[in-house]
Amino acid sequence: MAPLPQWLGRRLYPDAVSDLFPSLADLHRLKPAQQPRYDDPAELARVVAELRRRPPLVFAGECDDLRSKIAEVAQGRAFILQGGDCAETFASVTAANIRGKLRVLLSMAVVLTYAAQVPVVKLGRIAGQYAKPRSNDSETREGVTLPAYRGDAVNALAFDPESRRPDPQRLVEVYNHSAATLNLVRAFVKGGLADLRTVHSWNSDFVRNSQVEERYEKVSAEIARALSFMVACGIDDNSFRTVDYYASHEALLLEYEHALTRIDSRTQTPYDTSAHMIWIGDRTRQLDGAHIEFLRHLRNPIGIKVGPTTTPDDAVALIERLDPDHEPGRITVISRMGAAKVRDLLPPIVEAVEATGRKVAWVCDPMHGNTYSTELGYKTRAFDEVVSELQGFFDVHQELGTWPGGVHMELTGDDVTECVGGADEVAEQDLAHRYETACDPRLNRNQSLELAFLVAERLADDAIRREANPVQSFSPKDF
Ligand code: PEP
Ligand code: CO
Repeated sequence: MAPLPQWLGRRLYPDAVSDLFPSLADLHRLKPAQQPRYDDPAELARVVAELRRRPPLVFAGECDDLRSKIAEVAQGRAFILQGGDCAETFASVTAANIRGKLRVLLSMAVVLTYAAQVPVVKLGRIAGQYAKPRSNDSETREGVTLPAYRGDAVNALAFDPESRRPDPQRLVEVYNHSAATLNLVRAFVKGGLADLRTVHSWNSDFVRNSQVEERYEKVSAEIARALSFMVACGIDDNSFRTVDYYASHEALLLEYEHALTRIDSRTQTPYDTSAHMIWIGDRTRQLDGAHIEFLRHLRNPIGIKVGPTTTPDDAVALIERLDPDHEPGRITVISRMGAAKVRDLLPPIVEAVEATGRKVAWVCDPMHGNTYSTELGYKTRAFDEVVSELQGFFDVHQELGTWPGGVHMELTGDDVTECVGGADEVAEQDLAHRYETACDPRLNRNQSLELAFLVAERLADDAIRREANPVQSFSPKDF
């Protein structure tokens, strides 16, 4: 893969004379939202040049594979499970943390596949999710005002002027930490950790005595029996030992994303090689804005977050701008309406998009529309509200006869206490016990698995889908 050549801003597609790939300067002329204000442009330029020389983090062919899988989702034949931290931090790039996140996602995927008999596309919010959009540019504490924390990609969480100063060198650190994370993830998923025959051990350090643990043990025992049966029959497929796992994050910082864009040598087209899938956030999805202008030129599969302010016309226009060719698997719409609104706001959007004849993957983010602060000042989410938005999402699709294509969650492999409720009944006064997120509250491992069982029940129930879209053959890797 070649880096983007110097003639950026010239024609990229041989047959599309007028379609220019925008340079960073072009994008900045569009006044991108949610960008840090760096005080040394020369240093920023040096960092961008340095990143342009680095090898890609993912390969274009992998992005294409993911696009084909998402096309299956859009056709109602597979389900997306996307999850991970709200904000990764450099300090949390440890083997234990990465393994924990992987295990919880794999456990959820196994529950979904086994209980709902549906192939699952596994997408981590991982290896690049270091930048956060913020409602306010600055934060004031006891009369002192400093720039807001925008994620480890930009500045540090500590509240002092030096920590909060946007530092371009952090972009190189994002690259380094993402590379280290991806390296271990690839080793884990291909090197034995994801072997279906070890499904029991994925939760061996589970919090004991929870109802979720029992259910999980039951599913894994059934899977183990099924696999033994297959081995006894002489079927011992190597693909039971590995899975396909993809990396995704919000494409927020244009310097980083642009610097990691490369021309695929096979097709001479541009891919953002910082992740397999990138999504555009609810705060940066302006139709004529810089983020859309950047993303529309890329070949990666793209996610679009749609919140309560999105009109059906907005959704149709955004999708059209990003995918004029109606390419299967290109677009995933991730709705985050809030439990109270999803039933009213989602149907007109789904109907308007369906009316254009497109098939997109419809994914529910039941997290970002359901955040509130407790009296003690903890940002939290109630498990029941998360479930309620999910149920609303499934109801809407069931009524419209469309396929509820996936879930997008903020979760962790640890037993944190950041969201209230769930089988372990985390209460508001328990939040202080283990509140570790750098940004939004995440579901802990038990809450995540509990949700997977709920989703599995819903998918298994979904009579409309069973008739419309019988499960087709799929690779064991998509368990
Ligand atoms: C996020 O996914 O962390 C996020 C900020 O979401 P949204 O853009 O939907 O608010
Ligand atoms: Co978040």
